[in-house]
Amino acid sequence: MGESNETPEALQAICYQRGSLRLLDQRKLPLESVYLNIQDSKDGWNAIRDMVVRGAPAIAIAAALSLAVEIHSLEFKGAPADAADFIVKKLEFLVSSRPTAVNLSDAATKLGDLVQNTSETTTEVKTVFKAFVEAAEAMLENDVADNKAIGSHGAIFLRKKSEGLDKLCVLTHCNTGSLATAGYGTALGVIRALHAGGYLDKAFCTETRPFNQAKFQAIWLSFGSRLTAYELVHDKIPATLVTDSAVAALMKSGSVNAVVVGADRIAANGSDTANKIGTYSLALCAKHHGVQFYVAAPLTSIDLSISSGQQIVIEERSPKELLNSEGGLGKQVAASGIAVWNPAFDVTPASLITAIITEKGVITKSGDDVFDIKSFVESTS
Ligand code: MRU
Repeated sequence: MGESNETPEALQAICYQRGSLRLLDQRKLPLESVYLNIQDSKDGWNAIRDMVVRGAPAIAIAAALSLAVEIHSLEFKGAPADAADFIVKKLEFLVSSRPTAVNLSDAATKLGDLVQNTSETTTEVKTVFKAFVEAAEAMLENDVADNKAIGSHGAIFLRKKSEGLDKLCVLTHCNTGSLATAGYGTALGVIRALHAGGYLDKAFCTETRPFNQAKFQAIWLSFGSRLTAYELVHDKIPATLVTDSAVAALMKSGSVNAVVVGADRIAANGSDTANKIGTYSLALCAKHHGVQFYVAAPLTSIDLSISSGQQIVIEERSPKELLNSEGGLGKQVAASGIAVWNPAFDVTPASLITAIITEKGVITKSGDDVFDIKSFVESTS
């Protein structure tokens, strides 16, 4: 992985042209815009595991494109079926980088099926590779359109549910914006759409400990704000940064009309949604204070193969992320010898969620406090 310093024209986490992939090193934002050259799936795996690229949709797209770059000029010796097996094994390897977001394994399954099917209808390895590369590229292109649709559905729905209010104050958690996707974002896309329509009073972003997707970097790095705060400032959207622990007090003050967060995996029962650690606490606070709580995510974040959130593997990350500053890369800040529990995600039950906003529309509750996710997916596909 080589690196190059560069100011991105837009908030572009993934820079791709056929045969070339560069990922914005999000660990260095907002102070430095450094792109890492990704040459193969091993580089892609490392970039995902080490949080160079993060966010459920961005992880899936970056993984697929890292393999697309690897096979672009590969002299492969073997039959089309061998080429398909080669790709499937590489995809399995990429899926092992981070376990919780379903978008990556969903993409791997679809791309794996595609190359297996293609290998049965061709005598040319290059046809198998071409099918993979084109499908990976389509993921990048389609994601922005899906996010804009999420933004638009979300903005319309939130306004409808907030009759009497001209403008809304919306709180979000973690980073779900351009940097977590191919562009625009999911939950942050809803905030962007509200702002574009003139319906946003202000956004609140939580710092999202311990990886600080939305907060200040280390003090000695001059209080540069990261990811969500960076995107909101970039787009000139009125916004305020709060600590995760300030949310209950903020809601009690009546300053928040709605919460919109992303999702890493939504279970088929519609009652369990995994997202960045701290989401569950926000949902409990919102319920207590009568604040609407929305999940905004593409259909690829829905996992119909699991019946409940108990089956979701929650990634546990290195204790260093808590013990040291800068997501574990900086100086020690906690007492030596202290034990650490550092889950990256938690699961929020449907009883705390007002609605799920997707690119195909908004899923509301059908009764019994659950979402009929399966029927929604079937009716829209
Ligand atoms: O650990 P991360 O930064 O990959 O976690 C990201 C989140 O939890 C996001 O909220 C989620 O992936 C949705 S991104 C559109």
